[in-house]
Amino acid sequence: MALEHKLLVVNLDEELAEKVTQSAMNQVFIHDSAVTFIWTTALYRMKWRYGERSYRYIHLDAGHVGQNLYLADKAVDAGVCAIGAFDDDALNSLLGLDGHEHFVVYLATVGKL
Ligand SMILES: Cc1cc2nc3c(=O)[nH]c(=O)nc-3n(C[C@H](O)[C@H](O)[C@H](O)COP(=O)(O)O)c2cc1C
Repeated sequence: MALEHKLLVVNLDEELAEKVTQSAMNQVFIHDSAVTFIWTTALYRMKWRYGERSYRYIHLDAGHVGQNLYLADKAVDAGVCAIGAFDDDALNSLLGLDGHEHFVVYLATVGKL
């Protein structure tokens, strides 16, 4: 919840890690990771200002955020793997997102060997 600067519980399903893994082409390291970040966009927050160009900026933003995670993980001696291979409909539905105004853009796992 951006305006309140709070985290929001979205899904407490005990099999969530398994379902996210299945939604991302069954890449098993997702299930085994310490944490998996799933970045979503609320399109209107970009679109009211940038119109059609929002689609470009949303993905540029996601790339910057992802790169920052790659940099930050080095400080705690962990590893990151960005994930672009996922089923949009499956993952959006898992998170209760409509896939048009609010949708998943990018994922990344973090873990230690
Ligand atoms: C946009 C993007 C999408 C990626 N998607 C996947 C993915 O779905 N599965 C995966 O195993 N790695 C994925 N990667 C990670 C790359 O395979 C690779 O591990 C990473 O870019 C680091 O490369 P390096 O180890 O050669 O430096 C993705 C990387 C990027 C930048």
